[in-house]
Amino acid sequence: MASVLYFLGKRIWGYLELSTAKTTIFAQILGSKTRQVFLMNKIVIAIDGYSGCGKSSTAKEVAKQLGYTFIDSGAMYRATALHFLNLNLSPLRPEDVEIGLRSLQISFQLNPETGKQETYLNGVNVEKEIRTMRVSERVSEVATVKEIRAELVAQQQQLGQKKGVVMDGRDIGSVVFPDAELKLFMTADVETRARRRQIELQEKGEQVSLEEIKLNLENRDQVDSNRSESPLIKVADAIEIDTSTLTFSQQVDQILDLVKKVTIN
Ligand code: CDP
Repeated sequence: MASVLYFLGKRIWGYLELSTAKTTIFAQILGSKTRQVFLMNKIVIAIDGYSGCGKSSTAKEVAKQLGYTFIDSGAMYRATALHFLNLNLSPLRPEDVEIGLRSLQISFQLNPETGKQETYLNGVNVEKEIRTMRVSERVSEVATVKEIRAELVAQQQQLGQKKGVVMDGRDIGSVVFPDAELKLFMTADVETRARRRQIELQEKGEQVSLEEIKLNLENRDQVDSNRSESPLIKVADAIEIDTSTLTFSQQVDQILDLVKKVTIN
């Protein structure tokens, strides 16, 4: 009996040694960033911050590098605002909110040609339309409504249930994922944010003056920060990243370094 156990013990130990060696060799074959990711546990990364400071584009790239799912919670509020606009519903009238929510279905689908995730409203691709100024001007009002937030937050929590997710928005670290392992709060001065947003809009064929964009960003910041339902706040355990003087890849690298620290400890 003792010799059988000894034999089994040796076999198991030998197998473990071999697996560890294989894992190390495999990890060494991969590039340095991928190697770090390969050995990490999956976490939830919550990115909050002011309008137009590059949260979504940064979150998307971080998710890509980590092999995580990216969820743009702002796109969900934008799609809801578009839905209310299309049906001529007022987010401030309770009966309209009920009708709007009952007929609202938001989903994300990967575009195989661009490799980018796109937003669908009731089965229709609205990715481009939700980024227009028409929607930007209405979205923050829609986002003040308690019932609308409750519905979208529940969907966001469902999407992030299995971890391995990067979600950006205004209330991700405070309400959607208060237990997120890494919480970030992104900022940038309003001039920089307006300039970046103007380039984004120009690339999509929309010509909007810097002044108009700046006003929209400031208005949304004001409404988002002062609403009674889940206002935009920097929670105590969030790490602030000011992107005013950072390049895009510097932003991404800073976050990847933080992910490394959180997952290795
Ligand atoms: O991309 P940008 O920073 O312009 O905004 P967004 O992330 O697309 O969000 C659009 C609007 O949705 C915000 O101004 C908020 O009013 C609302 N929002 C929110 O209330 N809570 C979130 N988690 C995400 C967005």
